[in-house]
Amino acid sequence: MEYQTLLISEENRIAIVTINRPDKLNALNKIAKEELKNYFISVTTKNEIDVIIITGAGEKSFVAGTDIVELTSLDRNSGEEYSKNGQNVFNSIELCGKPVIAAINGYALGGGLELVLACHIRIASENAKFGQPEVNLATIPGYGGTQRLPRVVGISKATEMILTGNPIDAQEAFRLGLVSKVVPQSELILSAKKLAEIISSKGQIAIKKSLSAIHATMQEPLVIGLRTEATLFGECCATEDMKEGTKAFIEKRKPDFKNS
Ligand code: COA
Repeated sequence: MEYQTLLISEENRIAIVTINRPDKLNALNKIAKEELKNYFISVTTKNEIDVIIITGAGEKSFVAGTDIVELTSLDRNSGEEYSKNGQNVFNSIELCGKPVIAAINGYALGGGLELVLACHIRIASENAKFGQPEVNLATIPGYGGTQRLPRVVGISKATEMILTGNPIDAQEAFRLGLVSKVVPQSELILSAKKLAEIISSKGQIAIKKSLSAIHATMQEPLVIGLRTEATLFGECCATEDMKEGTKAFIEKRKPDFKNS
């Protein structure tokens, strides 16, 4: 499929999705959001892809937000729809059933930070900057930022970031647990690929069920989340892969996972 705003490479079970509007610092316009949603819906059923890496074109910006030009004509109703549509796009990423790694290569502002928050693993280059500057436009984060940012960095820091619009740098994002690793820009994609290769070498049923169980922490109270975890653990015990994984350990050999 041809995309106007995305570059897609799919190789060795790993997809790299590059948002490609570098002259606009990869700001997400309507087409980019539609294309992201379409791609992430399609990748759910692509058996040849295990892990997706998402990044921005160029060396300056991951995504500098939603396209501000599109915000100028919104009223109450169309604004609410605009927000719901963006939330759906990012939900399609979070819920695509496969691990998504954000490789953050520069500005991750507004919708860019919200996109980062919808990914499962986040690594950043040293020049990355993260912020929710919507308040500078007299609006609020509308693509999940008010909900996901407090869950990831804690309510106090999230409130500070959302109310001041002040950005944080990559090291602070690391200290806060917003990203799990900071690397030089030249090593960013290689680092993301290494993580993706490790994940891809595992039994993919266990990877999917781990994602579902982790996702429960975002959605459900602890008692329900623990029940979800136990159900998914039981489902793993019913797979051939788990029999093979445990047997291979005891026999001191590499497991041969069949994803069944
Ligand atoms: N929406 C639309 N266009 C954007 C954009 C956005 N979110 N962010 C950047 N751009 C465009 C600029 O308008 C400019 O386009 P032009 O060359 O046609 O004038 C181009 O990208 C380069 O941006 P510029 O502002 O010149 O780069 P800079 O290095 O001086 O500043 C930023 C970089 C990220 C600090 C600045 O672009 C910025 O503040 N962007 C908006 C961030 C934001 O508020 N995001 C949340 C939106 S809800």
